[in-house]
Amino acid sequence: MTDFSVKIKGFIFNLDGVIVDTAKYHYKAWLKLADEMGVEFPPEQHEQLRSLSRMESLEKILEWGGLYMTEAEKLHWADVKNNWYQGLIANMTPDEVFPGVLSFLDEVRQYGGKTALSSASRNARTVLESTQIDTCFDVVLDGAAARKPKPHPDCFLMAASALGLAPAECIVFDDAVLGVQAARDGGFHIVGVGKPDDLPDAELVIPGFDGLSLSEVMEMMRLIPLSMVAS
Ligand code: G6P
Repeated sequence: MTDFSVKIKGFIFNLDGVIVDTAKYHYKAWLKLADEMGVEFPPEQHEQLRSLSRMESLEKILEWGGLYMTEAEKLHWADVKNNWYQGLIANMTPDEVFPGVLSFLDEVRQYGGKTALSSASRNARTVLESTQIDTCFDVVLDGAAARKPKPHPDCFLMAASALGLAPAECIVFDDAVLGVQAARDGGFHIVGVGKPDDLPDAELVIPGFDGLSLSEVMEMMRLIPLSMVAS
């Protein structure tokens, strides 16, 4: 049940699939690896890797191909994939930031909200720098920070704590089922970014930030913006 008395002060964003489309680069790199291993890997299947860690993703691909690897081999191939991926994201440009993201972040700042970027990717900082949005967040936590992977809420709890806020004071924006579950379990408000059918457990699902204002989001979620309540 929505608590109408809660003041929303924090906005926590996942990176991949919310701020930028890095999924296509992850797919390219995993596809190259799958090809080398003779594993079929159609794009639809890549959807299942959303929000999984690098090693979990590799293990899924091995499982699909019915392949076995020792831990040392897995580490080696995860590293190879990461090198290919890093080669791709090094060339990312500012125009790859999804439409509407920058104005939405601006609006959050104007209204006095705090922002955090919380990503499971250890390459998150490189992506932020390549797309020149590294200074747009009060706090940045990458895949090296969280102690437990999603669906554990650790990454979001750490972000809220770094912002000095309680989970109920924050809205998380995530594009994956695992992220939505993590946010819910952590006691956050959660906006899914994608299609409503894919993210049934989100409080609200938006297709993206293009043409969307902060006040519209708050209204649709029936939450009170910080600027509208006496602090
Ligand atoms: C995000 C992406 C996953 C990726 C993971 C780790 O959660 O959605 O596809 O596997 O980050 O990324 P990394 O860059 O550390 O391999």
